[in-house]
Amino acid sequence: MPREILLGTTSIRIGQGLLAAAGSVARELAPAHRYAIITDSNVGPLYAEKVRGQLEKDRSDTLTIPAGESNKTRETWSRLTDQMLAKRYGRDSAVIALGGGVVGDLAGFVAATFMRGIPVVQIPTTLVAMVDASIGGKTAVDTPAGKNLVGAFHPPTAVLVDPQLLATLPLREMRAGFAEIFKHGVIADDVYLREVASNAPEMLSAGGSASDRMLSLIVRSVEIKADIVSRDEREEGLRKTLNFGHTIGHAIELVSGYSLLHGEAVAIGMALESRLAERIGVARSGTAAMIIKALQSAGLPTDLPPGFEPDAVIEAMKSDKKGVSGRTRFALPLRVGAMAGAETGWTVPVSDDQLREVLA
Ligand SMILES: NC(=O)c1ccc[n+]([C@@H]2O[C@H](COP(=O)([O-])OP(=O)(O)OC[C@H]3O[C@@H](n4cnc5c(N)ncnc54)[C@H](O)[C@@H]3O)[C@@H](O)[C@H]2O)c1
Ligand SMILES: [Zn+2]
Repeated sequence: MPREILLGTTSIRIGQGLLAAAGSVARELAPAHRYAIITDSNVGPLYAEKVRGQLEKDRSDTLTIPAGESNKTRETWSRLTDQMLAKRYGRDSAVIALGGGVVGDLAGFVAATFMRGIPVVQIPTTLVAMVDASIGGKTAVDTPAGKNLVGAFHPPTAVLVDPQLLATLPLREMRAGFAEIFKHGVIADDVYLREVASNAPEMLSAGGSASDRMLSLIVRSVEIKADIVSRDEREEGLRKTLNFGHTIGHAIELVSGYSLLHGEAVAIGMALESRLAERIGVARSGTAAMIIKALQSAGLPTDLPPGFEPDAVIEAMKSDKKGVSGRTRFALPLRVGAMAGAETGWTVPVSDDQLREVLA
């Protein structure tokens, strides 16, 4: 039996082999006249037919975008929307997002805006998307000014998590997923962080991705994220804690021209932001060391790569939506398992000078 976690109106189902239930779940939770399966050029050839085979052929289409963050744009959004319009999709259709966070964010945004909003079922295929991106209803595209700057809240009616799909995921992408998992540990559960850190090498080895340990890890991360989102869907306070590592991380991602994966940039962001938290007296001493050790257990980077100018990173941060002139607000840990800023909206202001010291 798959595990079910309810988040508002979203049914999140997690279980080995669940992809075989995609059609019945879509019909049950997102009944529609037609289904647009949106996927990318890597995932489509592997799994799209398995999904489409469970739907009526003349009432479904597979729409494939080129893989990669650089395609999470308004241009791809309009191309997909135009394809659906050309095929005469109407208000009585639904989107099935089959892919990683790029497909999930993009297809979610297509669904959020198509005819003012049609249902979306998320079928995440990367670890990042299973534990994070598919949960919580945030959809967006990137613009040259920064990531996720145009988007909408559009919770999926269902999320189908099948850890067996991780069997084909490249190792580097698996590692990147651990960054978001460690983030959940830092925010809410120190025991979980330690447990994941000690099991990471085994789970990253052959066969580890489809193990039951991986399944329970995904369940725990989804529980943590769903709990936070359920208490603050619109990110007015508590949900901001999920941005830990992302203020610096997004800037690094942008400066790298997306040559670093989202999870890799976030890992560096978490290492630097936890050092920052200790340096300005917000975090208990030893917090950064523990976080960095965990990240390294999964082979994730924890330092700014050579050639990255601190000022370029700060500049990129300003263009990100969380930037405010002179001071930037950060979601910072108090210690592993608890976040700071409960009295100040779950963020802490940091000056550019303090920031520069940590980046240098
Ligand atoms: N909405 C949110 O709350 C949220 C949260 C976290 C991240 N995100 C977004 O998610 C994106 C990153 O997602 P990602 O890390 O999943 O990247 P991604 O979607 O680019 O996927 C990574 C790569 O793996 C390939 N791939 C995916 N699944 C595969 C599989 N099962 N087998 C083989 N190859 C596979 C993809 O084609 C791609 O090349 C970023 O844009 C980030 O902003 C959103
Ligand atoms: Zn993230």
